[in-house]
Amino acid sequence: MFSQKALLLGASRRPELRRLVIGTPVTRRVVDRFVAGETLDGALAVVRQLCGEGIAVTLDHLGEGVTDRAEAVRSRDAYLALLEGLAPLQLGRAAEVSVKLSAFGQALPGGGTDLALELVRPVAEAASAIGTTVTLDMEESATVDSTLAVLAELRRDHPGTGAVLQAALHRTEDDAAALAVPGSRVRLVKGAYDEPPSVAWQSRADVDAAYARCLGVLMRGPGHPMVGSHDPRLVSLAQRLADHEGRTPDSWEVQMLHGIRTDEQRRLAAEGVCVRAYVPYGVDWYGYFVRRLAERPANLRFFLRSLVST
Ligand code: FDA
Repeated sequence: MFSQKALLLGASRRPELRRLVIGTPVTRRVVDRFVAGETLDGALAVVRQLCGEGIAVTLDHLGEGVTDRAEAVRSRDAYLALLEGLAPLQLGRAAEVSVKLSAFGQALPGGGTDLALELVRPVAEAASAIGTTVTLDMEESATVDSTLAVLAELRRDHPGTGAVLQAALHRTEDDAAALAVPGSRVRLVKGAYDEPPSVAWQSRADVDAAYARCLGVLMRGPGHPMVGSHDPRLVSLAQRLADHEGRTPDSWEVQMLHGIRTDEQRRLAAEGVCVRAYVPYGVDWYGYFVRRLAERPANLRFFLRSLVST
């Protein structure tokens, strides 16, 4: 039996379904909840608004799984344009960027990791030049070693480069221990991909327990933990652990996705917690959107109801 989540995540890789969903007029309205528009100007308007409310951002130029070098170069150029757009806002680390290495050619045959490193390096340089950082999103489990290898290279010159670890993966407790070093920025998430039992915890309870263990490792370490979750129990666990470890508010943060639990984002920020919203923008929103539907049955029901009531 396939779970609804597995079916949806499978659909995120089917081009014919992509055309069907994108071609539906109502989709735009639902997508707008999660995506800050298709253009850089639209994204920058959201950045100004959120930063004005005391919420930091990490911007994601949507795109993943490119199939040739030219597309990968276009991803690099989109990020360079984004950082050029951020420069005059002088937000420093309040506005950082998140990249998916599959958009930089990581999966291309014959040296994808090297190509991704070559193309992401100028993005890290441009980010450093305006006083901010890059975080490497984490994708399917098969890409973890490659992504961590790129991270290690980037951190030589740009030690603030961030990584994402997925609590669902069995390996993550060890990865968290290895990355709990001074200056290291690690976003801990549950994991948005469908992974087999050989590499990942399958039940919610097991994933949540693994998240709590990894969070403990990161909070006790000397790095900068980034708590990427909307789960109220895990966010309050993070607050308790941060208090217990005597962490100052600028030594860790909570990150949530644009459009999800926004009241909670504002409430935490008002309490003095450093909150960062993950703000995706661009035309290639399909994969991101389908993962948000897969995370929550209510999102899928809402989307399907919108389709039939049009
Ligand atoms: P959980 O799924 O248990 O949700 C807790 C509550 O949050 C829900 O009850 C609901 O109220 C709300 N909620 C959660 N998801 C929602 C949704 N889609 N729509 C509406 N409400 C929702 N994954 C990955 O594999 N690689 C990555 O690089 C990243 N990056 C990333 C950045 C940031 C800032 C966040 C917050 C998340 C990611 N993720 C990710 C996604 C992550 O792995 C995970 O799939 C989602 O965060 C959902 O898990 P929660 O921890 O929020 O808990």
